[in-house]
Amino acid sequence: MKGHRFPADARKRLSNEERRRMQPAEDIIARMVLMPEEVVADLGCGTGYVTIPMAARVTKVYAIDAQKAMLEALAEDLPHELKDKVVPIQSELPRIPLEDRSIDRAVAVNVVHEVGDLAALESELRRCLRPGGRFTIVDFPKRETSLGPPVSERLSEEEVISNFPFFRKLKEWNYPEFYQLELSL
Ligand SMILES: C[S@@+](CC[C@H](N)C(=O)[O-])C[C@H]1O[C@@H](n2cnc3c(N)ncnc32)[C@H](O)[C@@H]1O
Repeated sequence: MKGHRFPADARKRLSNEERRRMQPAEDIIARMVLMPEEVVADLGCGTGYVTIPMAARVTKVYAIDAQKAMLEALAEDLPHELKDKVVPIQSELPRIPLEDRSIDRAVAVNVVHEVGDLAALESELRRCLRPGGRFTIVDFPKRETSLGPPVSERLSEEEVISNFPFFRKLKEWNYPEFYQLELSL
């Protein structure tokens, strides 16, 4: 682990009013432009802030998190009609416990700064993504913002991109509280 890990006992903060206003899940997902036939891996899914609305739009979401309490909260909140579309997996990144070329998309929302070995994460994504697969990263800018970890633990957009040399950047969005990157193999 790189440094601070978001604690499971603070999990209610992941979907509180302030976050919903500052970083709406629907907006993150709209920028991803998901297709109904796609299979997605939500890396560090937490309580499912983006997992659940994504599941309503795609064929399947692998919801991967190291913390059992996060996955339990996700299961509690998951609407019945989406239960077949979400596969919860308790696992420690950078390893991605999925088959080769089994996913079209991966997303990591406020997670990449918590994963220590990004070179290993890139290698795992290259193995699991299908050709042309995409990786969406949302994270905190490397300056003081109202939410987020200490600045010393954050990664700038440039630092993130430099850790994924086999990917090309398709798009980048910058907001006062976070950035979103769309990378493609
Ligand atoms: C700040 S929370 C974000 C959760 C979710 N993506 C969201 O947007 O609400 C970070 C999550 O990443 C998970 N995480 C951090 N490092 C991880 C690792 N190495 N392997 C698996 N999960 C990890 C934590 O358990 C936590 O649930």
